[in-house]
Amino acid sequence: MREFSDRPVSQAVIEHLIAAAGSAPSGSNKQPWQFVAVQDPEIKRRIREAAEAEERNFYAGRANPEWLEDLAPLGTDADKPFLETAPWLVIVFKQLRNLESENGSDQVYYVNESVGIAVGMFLAAAQFAGLATLTHTPSPMKFLTGILDRPEHERAFMVIPVGHPAEGSTPPDIRRKPLEAIMRVDLDQRPNEDEPARPLPSSMPPPHDA
Ligand SMILES: Cc1cc2nc3c(=O)[nH]c(=O)nc-3n(C[C@H](O)[C@H](O)[C@H](O)COP(=O)(O)O)c2cc1C
Repeated sequence: MREFSDRPVSQAVIEHLIAAAGSAPSGSNKQPWQFVAVQDPEIKRRIREAAEAEERNFYAGRANPEWLEDLAPLGTDADKPFLETAPWLVIVFKQLRNLESENGSDQVYYVNESVGIAVGMFLAAAQFAGLATLTHTPSPMKFLTGILDRPEHERAFMVIPVGHPAEGSTPPDIRRKPLEAIMRVDLDQRPNEDEPARPLPSSMPPPHDA
């Protein structure tokens, strides 16, 4: 969802979503993540300003022509009003070192895989709570370390606006590859070869007022 309403979402709901994400599996159980939940309008304004500066560079040349062509159907551009409109921005940081001594050595393992799973669990929990999200990755995201005062061993991984869709807006109806295109059984057999192709759902059901 890229068009959000400013309808509030309670902090208790955000806490539940982060608790769900924090229950994810991780390499050697290092839990190499930190979730910063931002609702302060001034902090959101600063994040939007910095993200849009990076996005302007991206659309003006950092992205190669193929990338811009791939993005065209989504209709995205350098304007990111949702970074201020959505009631919450949850900024996920990955940790490159484990500095919590009770959790073994300071090494961390499979950090991207672990944090990716945690983000997926966050998104699924938000969907089940009737909320809309966006997986937003302004690149580079270094500016978030400064604005959110995060330590040197953390790197911004994802910005997730969380809220309700703007009045009258629904998420784009984006198709997925059919099951037959993404699954093989054993060495090369496609599932259900004798049956007509079964499409995957086009997307998750739209958020609702649960
Ligand atoms: C790792 C990742 C990064 C993404 N970054 C952005 C982004 O910066 N801005 C944006 O508008 N959408 C971003 N997306 C959203 C994708 O464009 C979107 O998930 C995809 O087009 C499929 O659409 P759907 O999620 O609405 O089904 C990102 C998605 C992922 C998984």
